[in-house]
Amino acid sequence: MHPMLNIGIRAARAAGELIVRNMDQVTDIQISEKGLHDYVSEVDRKAEALIIDTILKAYPRHSILAEESGHSGTSDYQWIIDPLDGTTNFLHGFPQFAVSIALKHGDTLEQAVIYDPLRQELFTATRGSGAYMNNRRVRVSKRKELGGALLGTGFPFGNSFKLEVFINTFRTLFPITAGIRRAGAASLDLAYVASGRLDGFWEFGLKPWDLAAGTLLIQEAGGIVTSVNNGADYMKSGNVLTANAKLHEELVKILATAMIENK
Ligand code: IPD
Ligand code: CA
Ligand code: CA
Repeated sequence: MHPMLNIGIRAARAAGELIVRNMDQVTDIQISEKGLHDYVSEVDRKAEALIIDTILKAYPRHSILAEESGHSGTSDYQWIIDPLDGTTNFLHGFPQFAVSIALKHGDTLEQAVIYDPLRQELFTATRGSGAYMNNRRVRVSKRKELGGALLGTGFPFGNSFKLEVFINTFRTLFPITAGIRRAGAASLDLAYVASGRLDGFWEFGLKPWDLAAGTLLIQEAGGIVTSVNNGADYMKSGNVLTANAKLHEELVKILATAMIENK
């Protein structure tokens, strides 16, 4: 295993343990609202500090981009961290949340870890070496028809224009697929696409820390990741569409028409 992946895993496991230990005390946890439906708790902050500490102990010169504490460092190696993805779920005891950690070198994603501490599912990828769940190789689904497909998505909040666009895409996809899930932790949605549990996923308004690790996992699992309009700027725009190549092609066409027709 690549030593940098190893450090990412160590950090994710430590944060996961801290999160689970705090689950019983959710009523005593200090919470603040960053924006509409956007919460942060002291558990997010403590988990993030623990991750950063673990990484910097091993790689003191590396840069960090973390959801709660922002950007630091000037190195070409940048760790992109979501210490607790699915905070709203966590605060409600809804068992769907994860730690997401990626390492980028220059513009290239090199390592990815997504850890679900409740199920103890560890999703990992190193560029060029495939995607794994608990050391078992995973691949995106082979489904060829949208008709039987299970898709994941997320609701955009804090932006009524995005919500309108999202509803248009939902209205189009809902009747022609087997089902749509909104589980509330984008990193796990992406890990589920990588492992074939979901046939595809789309969401508007995500952040780099929601997307980075999941993107590499899906690519290493043989899937396609683009923006909803098939562009390359999804990390910046946060509008993401992913599936296997066949379904992705179909989804791009359908969503393009949906967004024009429903305007
Ligand atoms: C959120 C989750 C959710 C997605 C939101 C994210 P957070 O992350 O990934 O599924 O729909 O856009 O902000 O705030 O719980 O880390
Ligand atoms: Ca997140
Ligand atoms: Ca988070």
